[in-house]
Amino acid sequence: MWKQLIHPIILCGLLFTAGQAVCAEPGDLTADESAAAAADYKKYCALCHGDDRQGYANDDAPSLRSKSLIRTGFPFHLLFAIAYGRRGTPMGGYFEEIGGPMKREEIYRLISWLREQVGVEPIELSLEPVIGDAKAGEAIYADQCAVCHGENGEGEIGPAIGNPATLALTTDAFLRYAIENGRDGTDMPAFGEILSAAEIDAVTAFLRSRSTGWSVKKPVLRTPPTVDQYVINPGSPAPEFDLQDGLYVKSEDLNRALQEKRRMVLLDTRVMSMWQMANIEGSVPVPYYFDEFERLAGDLPTDGTWIVTYCECPRASAEYVNKQLREKGFENTAVLWEGIQGWISLGFPISLGQVSAQND
Ligand code: HEC
Ligand code: HEC
Repeated sequence: MWKQLIHPIILCGLLFTAGQAVCAEPGDLTADESAAAAADYKKYCALCHGDDRQGYANDDAPSLRSKSLIRTGFPFHLLFAIAYGRRGTPMGGYFEEIGGPMKREEIYRLISWLREQVGVEPIELSLEPVIGDAKAGEAIYADQCAVCHGENGEGEIGPAIGNPATLALTTDAFLRYAIENGRDGTDMPAFGEILSAAEIDAVTAFLRSRSTGWSVKKPVLRTPPTVDQYVINPGSPAPEFDLQDGLYVKSEDLNRALQEKRRMVLLDTRVMSMWQMANIEGSVPVPYYFDEFERLAGDLPTDGTWIVTYCECPRASAEYVNKQLREKGFENTAVLWEGIQGWISLGFPISLGQVSAQND
């Protein structure tokens, strides 16, 4: 399961090769761009992260000077945190598509600028899970970490590393790197000098084991809707969507239609593991790599029922599946403009794939 959650990085790579640089790496800046990014930083970020990026000016916002973070934080801890914010913390989302003030290019420019200021090149971390003795890790956590991160990961001097929104989109290697190397210029020690490699693996595995909540739950995977359940509210009237650019539906409009129990089909085009984590109620998982569009087309209603696709990043794979459907002659199709990250950070309801979780 956890291995699969790192797929968005791979997905971003795929989308890039498909010509849609949705999660492309930020590039070098000209002097003018650098000055513009510095002004954005001052305007939007300095309040909490400090005039000099030192952190802890307000709301315990972490340092944005630490080499360790800036090297390893892309995309989740830099791009996604800035664009979509972190639910349950004071870090809001800045992307215009969820109502923030910044355009995609401005966010990328700011990330490039943060890298420039810190003077580090990003390093690529392994996507493999860290294997360790989680039980031993629990004891190490209580002994070494709880004093700063809280007994239940709720955060004290250090951030709330038990926050599901943080852990859900963090790779094992990112956690391990932070633990081993610490965060230079902050209170986070480099445990590479204190713990053995096996102990660092153990505490990483322990944190990972808390991803679905501090009291461990065994996820029970949910069965996706069957063909006869594809249409949501089959007996009801269709929604009236006013599409942007003839293609995009806004989260607000989709949510209203769902609340009003209108008839439609929702297709979730992300990898299945993401659908299991959280999805929009009633959606059918149809991952973008799913190559059975012929069969899918046969299973979808041809009476003009709206078919809305959505994905993570926020639109590429949803647009891809939409295109396949339009080519097959489906008329009323749309793509969710903000993607599910935007949907979640705007506070619209989600349904958890893992329904009947049991305590361990
Ligand atoms: C209202 C205060 C506030 C403002 C303004 C703010 N942040 Fe944050 N930011 C936070 C807090 C608090 C966190 C830690 C969230 C957590 O506990 O996970 C955070 C986390 C982050 C992280 C993730 C760091 C990590 O270690 O995972 C990044 C990157 C970030 N902020 C960048 C920015 C940028 C860039 C801006 C300006 C566009 C900004 N923030 C504006 C409060 C703020
Ligand atoms: C003395 C206090 C202190 C102790 C002890 C400590 N931490 Fe931290 N930790 C911090 C602070 C402060 C930060 C945030 C630093 C920053 O980036 O501004 C942090 C950051 C982290 C991060 C990065 C979180 C993120 O969202 O980017 C991880 C992971 C982490 N700590 C794990 C651990 C583990 C595991 C232990 C025990 C082995 C531990 N810490 C012990 C203070 C501490």
